[in-house]
Amino acid sequence: MSDNKHLHDRVKSILYSLTGITLSENKDIMIANRLHKLKRDTKYAGDIEELLDAVEEGEHTIEFINSFTTNKTHFFREDFHFTDLKNRVLPEFAKSGNQIKLYCSASSTGEEPYSMAMTILEAAEECGRNINATILATDIDTNVLQYAANGVYRYSKSSKEFPSWIKPQKYFKKRVQKTLASEEILIKVKPELQKMVTFKVMNLNDKSYPYNKNYFDVIFCRNVLIYFSNEDQNKILKKLFSHLKIGGTLYLGHSENPQDLISYVDRIGQNIFIKTKDFY
Ligand SMILES: C[S@@+](CC[C@H](N)C(=O)[O-])C[C@H]1O[C@@H](n2cnc3c(N)ncnc32)[C@H](O)[C@@H]1O
Repeated sequence: MSDNKHLHDRVKSILYSLTGITLSENKDIMIANRLHKLKRDTKYAGDIEELLDAVEEGEHTIEFINSFTTNKTHFFREDFHFTDLKNRVLPEFAKSGNQIKLYCSASSTGEEPYSMAMTILEAAEECGRNINATILATDIDTNVLQYAANGVYRYSKSSKEFPSWIKPQKYFKKRVQKTLASEEILIKVKPELQKMVTFKVMNLNDKSYPYNKNYFDVIFCRNVLIYFSNEDQNKILKKLFSHLKIGGTLYLGHSENPQDLISYVDRIGQNIFIKTKDFY
């Protein structure tokens, strides 16, 4: 067995035990790059094998996890989910005055939960009533959570990130500094949006989640299950599902599916599922 193969198998096994993430076979370059970065970030004096020994003994585990997560996201990704939230789910809550509890289960750098918050404010305006909403956003990666809580993003006017019904200047303040690319500016989430979202660290691979059963009205679980084996995806989905109310909505990413839960949901749109009964 080559040294690299041994090292990479070790990384995969540690990563799996800490996070449940399964790295596929063709990830050699990615693993090598991230190990280098981890060594640089931790300023670890020994070699990589020793660094992995340390991680296994509980040292630098946070840095290890943060190095191996993939955090790609953007505002209003798969925007039809936000359109559905605005036009179908939120008007009911505007009308009833009941509180709506939303959960973003892999929030990365915050673009997804802030998109949820903007959608709520737009729906409230359209309905002419306040919507009493809480948004919980969790991720396993502490770096992205810090970034999200800070709420500063790069923005380019030519980007098509925001749908036509969102005016970014309503929700973001322009920052004075210019970033490197000349057409980009920095924007910061306004306090009214920031205070709608609570960010917390949470591992979807944990045995159970610290929420009541049938608690959330809406769960976003998008573009995260793809990092898990089929069996583990199913386990995560069942746990998440137990915290969704009957009648609540589950939004999944484009290449994710509800697996064993298929008989417990109504599919009403592109990876949009309404819970019809509990899975027991
Ligand atoms: C590709 S991003 C997706 C972000 C967003 N949901 C979206 O669709 O744009 C995947 C996120 O899942 C997080 N993640 C990976 N494994 C996790 C785990 N075991 N528990 C919680 N979050 C996890 C990563 O840290 C990363 O930020």
